[in-house]
Amino acid sequence: MTIPSLGKEMFSADLAEQVRDRFHHVDQCPYQGKRAFFENAGGSLTLKSVVERSAELLAMPDNQGRTNVASVELSKIIAQGRADMMVLLGTTSGRVFVGETGTELLGRLIRNAILATKGTEVVGSHLEHPATYSPSRRYADLTGQLYTQVPFDTVSSVVTTDQYRSAITSATGVATIIHASPVTGMHVDVGAIAAQIRAVSPECFIIVDGIQHAAHGAIDVDEYGIDGYVVSGYKLFSRHNYGVAWVSERLATIPHDQLAGAPADVWELGTRDASAYAATSEVVRYLEWLGAQTNAELTDSTDTRARLKAAAAAIRNQEHGLVEAMLWGVGGLPGLAQLDGVSVVGPVASEHRSGMVSFEIDGTPAQIVVDELNANGVRTHARKQDYYSAGVLEPLGVESCVRASASHYNSLDEVEQLLATVNRLVN
Ligand SMILES: Cc1ncc(COP(=O)(O)O)c(C=O)c1O
Repeated sequence: MTIPSLGKEMFSADLAEQVRDRFHHVDQCPYQGKRAFFENAGGSLTLKSVVERSAELLAMPDNQGRTNVASVELSKIIAQGRADMMVLLGTTSGRVFVGETGTELLGRLIRNAILATKGTEVVGSHLEHPATYSPSRRYADLTGQLYTQVPFDTVSSVVTTDQYRSAITSATGVATIIHASPVTGMHVDVGAIAAQIRAVSPECFIIVDGIQHAAHGAIDVDEYGIDGYVVSGYKLFSRHNYGVAWVSERLATIPHDQLAGAPADVWELGTRDASAYAATSEVVRYLEWLGAQTNAELTDSTDTRARLKAAAAAIRNQEHGLVEAMLWGVGGLPGLAQLDGVSVVGPVASEHRSGMVSFEIDGTPAQIVVDELNANGVRTHARKQDYYSAGVLEPLGVESCVRASASHYNSLDEVEQLLATVNRLVN
């Protein structure tokens, strides 16, 4: 099918089938049975290759840093994992490491940056997840620094350079940016905001939460001019129990939580789980494959980064097509933007929208809609004004909403299934 606003083609039926075949539980939940999965912002589907490789390595008793063959092999797997993480994030400098979760890694980066900075002000935005604003507020308070959360633009529902400009001063030592909101799906211009921050406070440590964005578009860390970037395995076609952080050369060597006597740039704490590094390598291998499938010029290319960029572009297109179907209808059913009694959160047509439509049905609490969708085999999620989402929903005047978050492996048939239930509920 052609994506109306882009004039580009969605995946062919053959490619869509090959993509779906690479993931577990695409259309079947082992507990519920057949269902369409639009809860990708809560955690993507997992690549079969990730599960296979993780299981293989989790069974290995050997530790790294020994001279026996298995240990040497594990060390190589970890080194390859680090190299793949760097390519995935689009960087050739700094350090990458694995931690417990995205929340833990963001907390660690922000805590250490606030403790190390010579600045006296910390700035973030109301668009952010508590994983960034909680440590920012706590460590700013503990160190006697001023913490400011700038508002976002409630019309576009993203935060802009103008909003950061109002709060950044030469005393801003740490600033945080969320790359994409897990409530609205809108992504922000990280590079432009970072440049704005640097123009006023060149030494500021800029730390970015890339957890929602990572599965929906390219990551170009070297182009952003930042100091920290964090993604979570389970949001990026991999599995739970680990996240990946990148720190710039500058941030890498600040005094930070580490074992006494360890080299100054080491952020890894304790024995490495080789399976987490290998799982990320599997994600990169998958994206390389997808990039080559969607860009014929790359079929014989060994340029991993070029293939990843092609995969990111293909994923964006595919998700664009799915989102347009959600908004404007498919299979003869009207879409969410066309139905009386349905309000879409944020501007309907937005260049910032990445694979997600959050919406309300007037007069019906979101959880009831989510339960009804579940009963009809469509997985979505309710977002309400709790401590995860109030920062975003309150300024938008939204009490609660249904989040339908797509990924490139979703199909138009699944969108039709979602719309069928919503149409029934409002008619
Ligand atoms: C934007 C964003 N930041 C942080 C987090 C927390 O990530 P984790 O569950 O890996 O701690 C999430 C999870 O939903 C998120 O969407």
